[in-house]
Amino acid sequence: MDDFSSPSTGSGSSGQEVPEHWYQPIADFLGTAYLRNAFTYGTVAEVDFLAPRLCPPGFSCSEEAVKTSETRQNPKKMPCLLDAGCGPGRHALEFARRGWSVHGVDISPRFIELGREAAQAEGLDCTFRLGDLRRLDVEAAYDAVVCLCQGGFGLVGGGLDGDLEILRRLCRALRPGGRLALSAFNAFFVVKYPTEDSELSGLEFDPATGLHQEIAELRDPEGNTRRVHATTCCYTPRELRALSRLAGLHVIDVYGVSPGDYAERAPSVDLHEYLLLAERPLEPVSV
Ligand SMILES: C[S@@+](CC[C@H](N)C(=O)[O-])C[C@H]1O[C@@H](n2cnc3c(N)ncnc32)[C@H](O)[C@@H]1O
Repeated sequence: MDDFSSPSTGSGSSGQEVPEHWYQPIADFLGTAYLRNAFTYGTVAEVDFLAPRLCPPGFSCSEEAVKTSETRQNPKKMPCLLDAGCGPGRHALEFARRGWSVHGVDISPRFIELGREAAQAEGLDCTFRLGDLRRLDVEAAYDAVVCLCQGGFGLVGGGLDGDLEILRRLCRALRPGGRLALSAFNAFFVVKYPTEDSELSGLEFDPATGLHQEIAELRDPEGNTRRVHATTCCYTPRELRALSRLAGLHVIDVYGVSPGDYAERAPSVDLHEYLLLAERPLEPVSV
C-alpha cells in the first residue's frame, strides 16, 4: 500500500514551481480514470445549482443569455471564474460550456494536462495552470471562485493554518462582491458512519485535529488497482463559518450536500459534505 498521507516538500516533478504534494502520485495513477469515480457523475447538477448563485450582479448567466449571439460575440459579458484545485477540470469545463470565462488551478500536473486537452478538444474559453493554492497570489481578479470536492482545502494536513491560508487567498482573488462556493467533508458524518477499516484499527478520525484517514482502492485507466492511505481534514458548519470570517469573507450560508445533490438544505450529520457559500465584502470587515 502506498502511504500518501504525509505531505513532503521539494521541487515539483514537472520542473515547474510547485512543491511536491501527496495528491500528485494519485493524479498520475488515476489519470482519466478519475472521471469514472461515482462522485464525479453529478457535475452538471452541481453547476446547475452553483451558476445562478455565483453569477454576479450585472451579468446574465441564464442559458438563454449564454446562447444569444451578443454574449457569444462579447465574452466579457460573462463572468470570470476560478476553479481552485480543479482536478481534470470537470466543473471548470462545465462552466465554460455555459459561456463563463474560466481558469483552473491545480497542483497535480497530470490533471492540468487532462483539463487542457479537454478544453482544446471542445474549443472552450477555459485555461489551466499548474499552481499551489497556498501560494495563489492574485487580487480581485475573479467574479466567482469554486473550490469543490476538497480541491486543496482540507488536504493540507494537520492544523487549521493551511486551510485558513487557502481561504484568505481565495477571498483575495475575488472582486469585492464576488462569491465563493467551497465544499468540505462533514466531521459529524465520518464519526457517525465510520468506515472501520481493520488496517486503521479504529483510528480513522482524530477529534483533536479533525483529520480523517481512509484507505481507498484506486483503479487506473487500464484497471490496475492500488491501495492508498489518504488524510483529509473534516469540518463542522461552525468551523467553516469561523474560518471564513477570519479569512475576511461574509458567509451567506452553509448547506448540507452530497456529490451531485447540491441544494439549499440545512446542514445535517447524515450528508457527506457541507457547501459554503460566501462573499468578499465590498468593504473589508474587521474580525
Ligand atoms: C479530490 S480532487 C478534486 C478535484 C476537483 N475540484 C473535482 O471536484 O473533481 C482534489 C484536487 O485538489 C488538488 N490539490 C490539492 N492540494 C492542492 C493545492 N495546495 N493547490 C492546488 N491544488 C491542490 C489535487 O491535485 C486534486 O486535483
